[in-house]
Amino acid sequence: MDAKASNSRHSNEDRIGVLEELLNERYSVRAFLPKEVDRATIEHVLTTAQRTASWCNSQPWQVVIASGEAKERFRQLIYKEASGGLGDDYDFKPPREYVGVYLDRRRESGFQLYNTLGIARGDKMAYAKQALENYNFFGAPHVAIIHTNEPLGIYGAIDCGAYVSNFMLAAQALGLGTIPQAALARHSGLIRRHFNLADDRRVVCGISFGHADDSHKVNSYRTSRASVADTVTFIDK
Ligand SMILES: Cc1cc2nc3c(=O)[nH]c(=O)nc-3n(C[C@H](O)[C@H](O)[C@H](O)COP(=O)(O)O)c2cc1C
Repeated sequence: MDAKASNSRHSNEDRIGVLEELLNERYSVRAFLPKEVDRATIEHVLTTAQRTASWCNSQPWQVVIASGEAKERFRQLIYKEASGGLGDDYDFKPPREYVGVYLDRRRESGFQLYNTLGIARGDKMAYAKQALENYNFFGAPHVAIIHTNEPLGIYGAIDCGAYVSNFMLAAQALGLGTIPQAALARHSGLIRRHFNLADDRRVVCGISFGHADDSHKVNSYRTSRASVADTVTFIDK
């Protein structure tokens, strides 16, 4: 059956066109301008992302957004812990291993990043230095921490993942750049203490956001995606 026409003023063609444009444009920004985003624009992103679907409409996401001096205090703390080699304090287990095609994709995106920055293959010192930029929030003026409710388990985290996607698309639509950061969740204990999160909250990831620095080379490459044929199995009979 054909898709039902919506009640929107816009044609389905226009609507999917806008969505495709946003999805195709969005990329993980790893260099931001220091310029702050006004509160009304941030609230517009948040209001839009609130429409995210969740299991039983539980809406488990809670978000702390640090800006200005609060961001700077948090940056100093988390940077210190990360650069001191401390951390590995995830609330959710990180991937155990990347194997097969997942390892290939991880490598491809990693080499794209390093090649763009002129980092030689195998230069582990330079890899580590670039990884530490996570804890400078890549220069972003704002950082959001997304946390969920422990009893909701992995599905609460999935709901938060959907929220993160919608947050990024809403930000993209309003001219902002974003980067989701599991690297911040590596320091969940510090985050819980610093932001006084309740004991039943679990850190999923961060999102640094602001205005992309379009002149920075790190923002100049785009990652690939597998085809639908590589991803979907249709079963008709
Ligand atoms: C849940 C999640 C966590 C991520 N964590 C990090 C991170 O800690 N640091 C980082 O540089 N990129 C991080 N990324 C960005 C991914 O590397 C990026 O989305 C992927 O390579 C695809 O590239 P694109 O976002 O530019 O399309 C994360 C992405 C997701 C969805």
